[in-house]
Amino acid sequence: MKHSPISRRALAIGGALCALAFGAAACGSSNNNSSSSTSGGSSTTSGSKAQKVGVLLPDTQSSVRWESFDRPDLQKAFAAAGVPVTIDNAQGDKSTQQQQAEQLITNGAKVLLLVNLDSGSGAAIEANAQSRGVKVIDYDRLTLKGSAAYYVSFDNVKVGQLQGQGLVDCLSKAGGTPNIAELNGSPTDNNATLFKQGYDSILKPLYDSGKAKKVADQSVPDWDNQKALTIFEQMLQKTSNKIDGVLAANDGLGNSAISALKARKLKQIPVTGQDATPQGIQNILSGDQCMTVYKAVKKEADAASKLAIALATGKQPEAGLVNGKTNDTARDVPSVLLVPQAITKDNVKVVFDDGFLKPSDVCVGKYQSLCSKAGIS
Ligand code: BGC
Repeated sequence: MKHSPISRRALAIGGALCALAFGAAACGSSNNNSSSSTSGGSSTTSGSKAQKVGVLLPDTQSSVRWESFDRPDLQKAFAAAGVPVTIDNAQGDKSTQQQQAEQLITNGAKVLLLVNLDSGSGAAIEANAQSRGVKVIDYDRLTLKGSAAYYVSFDNVKVGQLQGQGLVDCLSKAGGTPNIAELNGSPTDNNATLFKQGYDSILKPLYDSGKAKKVADQSVPDWDNQKALTIFEQMLQKTSNKIDGVLAANDGLGNSAISALKARKLKQIPVTGQDATPQGIQNILSGDQCMTVYKAVKKEADAASKLAIALATGKQPEAGLVNGKTNDTARDVPSVLLVPQAITKDNVKVVFDDGFLKPSDVCVGKYQSLCSKAGIS
């Protein structure tokens, strides 16, 4: 499968954003290990009090969020608390992640924040950490049958419901019985299961009553955007292009579907997404995408840093922070579950007003005039 020029360009834009945000050194290299050991108040004498924290990010391919948002937000949150943090990215490789965890523990980390690559490897990292007296927080993705002390994420079933309802709302403008294709996240990511649970709770009744037709339903291994492009191409092929709406589980997968539609010179159809990435917002402004789900990563990073500090100092987290429990199929994990928000052309300003994106992230080239029209400046 050849990559379309559009998806190449999209990757190039992603790379440029990465370089802008972190300096070229933090982007793309195989050992993407930017460590900051800030002591916040700059006094090193109290350094012995500082508890080291390690963060294990999953990859740079499945979403730009990890490097563009989670990394800087976590850096800031720990810096503000005067806690030294090292942030690693496993580049999608499970054994690399295992080695990074090992290295962080050897270097004195007392708490790890883990975004697992699958539950099996995540549980192994957690068991090893536990045996060394190190606490782990499941960051964004729950590790099934793991041993994390906490889970910090969003209400991920709700994320899926927002996607399902968003798609239905966009499709209702056209009327008729729409043919829907589902492009699901990675089968190894528990979140992908929860997102699907959410959107299928909205879509299945419509399929069952004949108000909509499911014409394709496939998971994308590792959330890989190139694989998504191939998969969606095949969906179009099999249905003779008769797809009226795409439930894509995140902005990257949505963009793959959009690229395939454009390559076939097909008209715009409702496509969903998630993460409110610069590219996703551009696609919304141009009408190629109908909605995305905004998850305030800053709140997620702040909550995780508070829990990490509580664990490292043996204190209880502040009252009200932990607001639920999530079953990991073996036990209930105390959880912080934040609220996601649907974004369409109508409320696209939210992500700028919240400081998540800057106009300069989005309003470049042909998007400048679209931004002005939407009141973004
Ligand atoms: C996260 C999403 C992200 C996806 C791919 C999920 O676990 O919740 O925000 O788009 O992984 O990285």
